[in-house]
Amino acid sequence: MQTRITQLFGIQYPIMQGGMHYVGKAELASAVSEAGGMGILTALTQRTPADLAAEIDRCRAMTDKPFGVNLTFLPVVNAPDYPGYVQVILDKGVPVVETAGNNPVEYLPMLKAAGVKVIHKCTAIRHALKAQAIGCDAVSVDGFECGGHPGEDDVPGLILLPLAAKALSIPFIASGGMADGRSLVAALALGADGINMGTRFVATREAPVHDRVKQAIVQAGERDTRLIMRALRNTERVLRNPAVDRIVDVELALGDDVRFEHIAEHVAGVYHRVMVEGEVESGAWSCGMVAGLIDDVPTVRDLIDRIVDEARAIATERLKAVF
Ligand SMILES: Cc1cc2nc3c(=O)[nH]c(=O)nc-3n(C[C@H](O)[C@H](O)[C@H](O)COP(=O)(O)O)c2cc1C
Repeated sequence: MQTRITQLFGIQYPIMQGGMHYVGKAELASAVSEAGGMGILTALTQRTPADLAAEIDRCRAMTDKPFGVNLTFLPVVNAPDYPGYVQVILDKGVPVVETAGNNPVEYLPMLKAAGVKVIHKCTAIRHALKAQAIGCDAVSVDGFECGGHPGEDDVPGLILLPLAAKALSIPFIASGGMADGRSLVAALALGADGINMGTRFVATREAPVHDRVKQAIVQAGERDTRLIMRALRNTERVLRNPAVDRIVDVELALGDDVRFEHIAEHVAGVYHRVMVEGEVESGAWSCGMVAGLIDDVPTVRDLIDRIVDEARAIATERLKAVF
């Protein structure tokens, strides 16, 4: 397959794995890259820049294919050591960075000067245009159905992607709700140059998370996610569970008066408990509506091969027969 994204990243298939807290570690990123996609390590899952450097080394020992690093710019007062993480990315010669959250403009000149390809993940056309204007090489356009942070505009991919195709001149990939060959063909038809997947890659053999997390995704239907933190303007789509129901109750009761402290016990620092210890009901963790399309835990290679085969069959048989 050839699209502007396979060319930009030097990969076989236009399939990317989005940065995921506690999931985007060397085991998963290397498996995605080995299978012909673009694997991504999540910088902030590593406590320090030195830990990120070690994780990059670990990933390199598992694959000689290109992989990238996600840098999530969080809306927090005490920011992580972003300059330190960026320096490690440069020192280690990482070829691709996926930025997300706040505008990456501060770090863009350093990354660009070193030849790093920057793909910014955004949920609004105005943000995608901004990313293009400041010099990002590509964008990942995340629709409302996505796991994690869908932004505050609630525009689904079916609308966002054609708008992105009209507005942008740089390559872009479709993110949110992508699971299979149908998703890939649909994304290409809507004008995207490839797909980015989060939730689907969590439910794979190589994802370094507790099996109960994978089974929770397999069991979930398309109606089993909830939006939290809307009043804080930091909306997150998470898998429904009793802790999430409590968050939603508190948010409904307090309305615009809700503060992070009111829900912190179910949100802050829960990823270790969920992803490592498998306490999947202990708090809120990101999950997309696409869980409704996921009913198995394949290896990453089987998943990617299946997506490509299915997409090829749709394009060359089903669509050809229609036209
Ligand atoms: C468990 C989980 C953790 C995530 N953590 C991050 C993160 O730390 N940074 C980030 O930019 N995106 C994060 N995301 C979002 C994904 O990178 C991706 O954009 C999103 O999952 C796409 O939607 P999908 O789940 O429908 O495929 C996370 C998603 C999941 C499911």
